[in-house]
Amino acid sequence: MSSSIFRISLFILMFSQLRFPLVFSGYVNVSEEAYSKCSASFSCGIFTGIGYPFWRNDQPDYCGHPGFKLDCQGERATIDINSQKYDINEIYHESQVLRIAKTDFMLNICRVSFINSTLDFNLFEYTLSDQNASLLYDCDHLTEEQPRKREFTCPINNRSSECYFTVPAISSDELSRRCKISLLIPVLEIFADHFTNYLMTIDQVIKEGFEVRWIIDQERCRDCHFSGGKCGYNRTINDFTCFCSHQPSPRTCFRTQPPANSAAANPSTAPATELVMRDKIDEMDQHP
Ligand SMILES: *[C@@H]1O[C@H](CO)[C@@H](O)[C@H](O)[C@H]1NC(C)=O
Ligand SMILES: *[C@@H]1O[C@H](CO)[C@@H](O)[C@H](O)[C@H]1NC(C)=O
Ligand SMILES: *[C@@H]1O[C@H](CO)[C@@H](O)[C@H](O)[C@H]1NC(C)=O
Ligand SMILES: *[C@@H]1O[C@H](CO)[C@@H](O)[C@H](O)[C@H]1NC(C)=O
Ligand SMILES: *[C@@H]1O[C@H](CO)[C@@H](O)[C@H](O)[C@H]1NC(C)=O
Repeated sequence: MSSSIFRISLFILMFSQLRFPLVFSGYVNVSEEAYSKCSASFSCGIFTGIGYPFWRNDQPDYCGHPGFKLDCQGERATIDINSQKYDINEIYHESQVLRIAKTDFMLNICRVSFINSTLDFNLFEYTLSDQNASLLYDCDHLTEEQPRKREFTCPINNRSSECYFTVPAISSDELSRRCKISLLIPVLEIFADHFTNYLMTIDQVIKEGFEVRWIIDQERCRDCHFSGGKCGYNRTINDFTCFCSHQPSPRTCFRTQPPANSAAANPSTAPATELVMRDKIDEMDQHP
């Protein structure tokens, strides 16, 4: 009885001496949790080995950059860019390139939101493989036939209306003036050529999508990963964060470890403090 009270008071004494509460503060707990919940590599749809800045919608939001949340359903992986949904066709991690296709265009070219979608240019840029195409809806009948444009029909206001797909995009020529709606849609240049040569249909070209490069810094994540941390994002400070096993760091989990006996004087080095503490417990167990 008295021995257990002695042990408890010894513990309390140790905690107060070592200024230990840092380990039990929410800050450290969040990091420990983040470290265990965020994975360095995950799969989504048909893709494996995906990592930061991406995160799955079933992971905590601090596991990735807010603009890179992936929705994973069966074999599909989608991402929202500027509130528009895109299917991911390919992920090239090394070159930081995604090949994506706008989901509503893939499903039904006639039932799309008639807006020109743009990228979030803080996060993405087009690549040199892209080319703009035009989708023209509800046009007056156009008789001239040319390989760069193809006609299709859509039901608009209960009647079959003439629509056109042309690549490269047309600017302000007669064709666009005779159509009620004109949209720009990026496609891959190579498939645009296939389309022109009658090797691919409109649907096929659109489904193949286009390329975007993500332009956020990957350097800090590489350093973090190399130091044994997990890359994440802190939405409070809106910045990258490296989750280490005990506390988050702006970049890496490497630290200049002070000698163990100086840990008490420096409470910010939690792991060193823990080492000292383990030593003391060992001592205690050896001399009960
Ligand atoms: C750490 O976080 C978990 C999950 O949020 C919680 O259940 C637990 O009570 C926390 N522990 C401390 C010491 O704050
Ligand atoms: C984000 O940073 C704030 C301020 O530094 C900190 O209090 C919070 O615990 C951090 N959150 C995560 C998830 O690391
Ligand atoms: C397509 O058009 C948009 C809007 O004018 C422009 O921002 C983009 O750079 C163009 N893309 C290509 C590949 O020319
Ligand atoms: C369109 O057609 C449907 C059924 O064919 C009819 O119920 C609807 O009233 C029509 N709408 C217009 C605007 O004519
Ligand atoms: C889409 O962009 C093109 C080229 O800038 C423009 O001509 C067209 O009116 C735009 N369409 C819509 C629906 O905003």
